[in-house]
Amino acid sequence: MCGIVGAVAQRNVVPVLLEGLQRLEYRGYDSAGLVVVDDAKLKRLRSTGRVAELIQISAGTEGRLGIAHTRWATHGIPSERNAHPHLSKDLIAVVHNGIIENYETLRGRLTRAGYEFTSDTDTEVIAHLVHSHYVSGMPLLRALQLSLTELVGAYAIGVIAADNPDLLVCARRGSPLLLGIGIGENFIASDVSALLPVTNKVVYLEEGDVVEISRQGYQIYNAAGVETTRPVQVSEISNESVQLGNYRHYMQKEIHEQPEAISNTLESACNSQSIMPGIFGAEAEASFANVDSLLILACGTSYHAGLVARYWLEEIAGVQCTVEIASEYRYRASVPNPRALVVVLSQSGETADTQAALSHAKSLGHIYSLAICNVPESALVRQTKLRFLTRAGPEIGVASTKAFTTQLVALFLLTLVLAKQRNRLTAECEQQHLHALRHLPAATQKVLDLEPKIEKLAERFASKHHALFLGRGLHYPIALEGALKLKEISYIHAEAYPAGELKHGPLALVDKDMPVISVAPNDALLEKLKSNLHEVRARGGELYVFADANTHIQEEDGVHIMHMPEHAGYLSPILHTIPLQLLAYYVALQKGTDVDKPRNLAKSVTVE
Ligand code: F6R
Repeated sequence: MCGIVGAVAQRNVVPVLLEGLQRLEYRGYDSAGLVVVDDAKLKRLRSTGRVAELIQISAGTEGRLGIAHTRWATHGIPSERNAHPHLSKDLIAVVHNGIIENYETLRGRLTRAGYEFTSDTDTEVIAHLVHSHYVSGMPLLRALQLSLTELVGAYAIGVIAADNPDLLVCARRGSPLLLGIGIGENFIASDVSALLPVTNKVVYLEEGDVVEISRQGYQIYNAAGVETTRPVQVSEISNESVQLGNYRHYMQKEIHEQPEAISNTLESACNSQSIMPGIFGAEAEASFANVDSLLILACGTSYHAGLVARYWLEEIAGVQCTVEIASEYRYRASVPNPRALVVVLSQSGETADTQAALSHAKSLGHIYSLAICNVPESALVRQTKLRFLTRAGPEIGVASTKAFTTQLVALFLLTLVLAKQRNRLTAECEQQHLHALRHLPAATQKVLDLEPKIEKLAERFASKHHALFLGRGLHYPIALEGALKLKEISYIHAEAYPAGELKHGPLALVDKDMPVISVAPNDALLEKLKSNLHEVRARGGELYVFADANTHIQEEDGVHIMHMPEHAGYLSPILHTIPLQLLAYYVALQKGTDVDKPRNLAKSVTVE
């Protein structure tokens, strides 16, 4: 979603801002802009296209203080007039991530006070508010602090003034923002990856922090206005890990990184002879002993990981588990169970709905919480008592791949820990599961070897407008995930159903133009699934089956089989995900879509 970069330096900051914006492109955006202070004037450039266009029009623009932004439209259509930075009377410039909920009231008041609005955004009120305080003689920091007292909503904000070439001020509440610490230069960004070319020393701001930044240093004031310190951390994300390398797209790279990502995620668990609760945090053992059920909250792909986990948790650990879409749960009048462990799943750790769902659960009296997340310093991780960090490495492609499979690994470990604590796991079973987990990276690699075949198969989908995905049991959520991947990046309408539901409605859709993709593991539901596939074939539906060995599903006219290399028992959903990711990827390639930045979507969904 929207991205912020800002810099105050002794050098020209335009290249730093532009490279930072390029590095934030993966989050999704529809316009971009920057402003620098040069010769006591604000010089602003905006574009509705890609950052590459901003780079073209920025030739000759220079300044040693500047802020920049990629916008993902919420208030007002994507257009140059709505792109950030927003200015007030050529004196104040503002970039903003988040949503100001009371902007209409403020807009009315500021208009009556003589301010002219030139955009449809909520952000512009911030520029005029800061201006109104600044011209009354207040320092820029104080003008921002006072403005914040009038804002309702979520924000990460960067502000500069034309007559103050040495100062950048910023604030965060509800949207991520960090400082990058350099030598004789300092930066702000909404995501550390934007700053990696210039520094890896970062300070993660807390809720309510307001900061004054100069070339020499910075002062942080907390929500109460008291000067405070926050730890300087060295980011573990390397510059190389966010480079594309020899791959055509980040999504392809990230699909291929799964064996390593899974292996890294398993490292802490599989190095010992038994799985210990401590991998979820020092207090995990005591907390787990007190919980009687699980409430999993997540969005999108992360929600699908939760759905898989429900099967594992109830069957292996005997723990009752509910999985809820975060954006629904936060507004639903649910019956809280304070002994339930609230598990929030998120790749980014910044998803606004998931954060709000966690806060809602806490407000209902839930005391046990665990975050399973891929970003160590993210907001969610800081809000839960327990945490498990998946070690997938930065995920740049908007469509989540390696973050999903590593979430599944983490959830399987959680299942084993809970099963063991509840005496539902014999030592022998534990060793078998550990063995299967240790083998998982190699098994994943074997599935990736199917890539050339799937690339060929994808040619058949490019002309289709709809697709149906089927799965049963543990693999039904994998069908959901396969359908989500296909629709996200190829824009083909795709639905997923538990195969047993076909005859209750969706069978009516099946004809020769409707490809039906089925996940067919060699498990207890195989024979039932085969009957469902016959139902499809009998209606002329074209079947594409990802089948485990020994499933005895015959290739014939209208039935295309992709043979999965082996059957991974409980871990099978992880393996069956991979060909569906590859299928979506190659169909999108056929269709020529923007694979890593599909239209209308953002990587970190930091607004509601
Ligand atoms: C789909 C996808 C999204 C995210 C969802 C939640 O490929 O990436 O559906 O899964 O927006 O994001 P996180 O996991 O960051 O909370």
